Amino acid sequence: MKIQLKKYDVLASTNETAAKAACQGADEGTIIVATRQEGGHGRMQRVWNSPKGGLWFTIVLRPKIDPMYVPQVTLLMGVAVAQGLRRLYSTDKISIKWPNDILWDGRKVCGILSEMQLDANGDIDHTIVGVGVNVAFSSTYFPEAVRPTAAVLSEVSGKSFTCEDVLQAILTEFEPIYEAWQREGSEAMLKRWCSLNCTLGKYVNVKDNDEIIFQGTAVSIDEEGALKVKSLEGKIRSYNFGEISIR
Ligand code: BTN
Repeated sequence: MKIQLKKYDVLASTNETAAKAACQGADEGTIIVATRQEGGHGRMQRVWNSPKGGLWFTIVLRPKIDPMYVPQVTLLMGVAVAQGLRRLYSTDKISIKWPNDILWDGRKVCGILSEMQLDANGDIDHTIVGVGVNVAFSSTYFPEAVRPTAAVLSEVSGKSFTCEDVLQAILTEFEPIYEAWQREGSEAMLKRWCSLNCTLGKYVNVKDNDEIIFQGTAVSIDEEGALKVKSLEGKIRSYNFGEISIR
């Protein structure tokens, strides 16, 4: 993959700029990076605080695979981010919470938001993967409600890597995993995801728009990236949407 970095000072959202670029034919490997975002967003239309000092980027991908497997791109980027951060910060405190949160000792330091666009034949035109990493800014930037569950890498690690260092660490992991995933399928990537995750085996609340819709033990993830949860009564449900809180 040829990486083409396009750097901006301020953007509303790197996902929006990347989506526009992709619709206008931007190549796979185009990366939109912004020093800060004024309209950064997360899952469930939540505001994503994006001050200077964080890494805010979106990559354009054009994978040649069955669209049903595209949700795996989020898992794949999660593996790349988790491995990149573990290596750069020399720590095993980083884990992945299904589907897309990267945690340091249980507190979120990175979120991932993917969007897919199909063409008229139902094939993948492109997918964009947005990544936000809290690299080095004061955690007072977080609204009070998220302070207990969010963290900034410089504060929790005591190490002052730059956003460029973190981007490089993520891309170094991402490229080989992405190429192998397209060539050989998902088995190896899902195995790595399982070894880095902190969700499987835990009792979880499954939430849709902040409302608890199911409770049980997270048992496995399937080929499409859906989480299988087993309730105390033995009912099993699979979720490829929503989010969880770990109890
Ligand atoms: C989440 O955990 O809810 C996902 C957060 C994704 C944030 C990143 S920052 C770069 C890109 N641009 C956006 O507006 N969102 C993603």
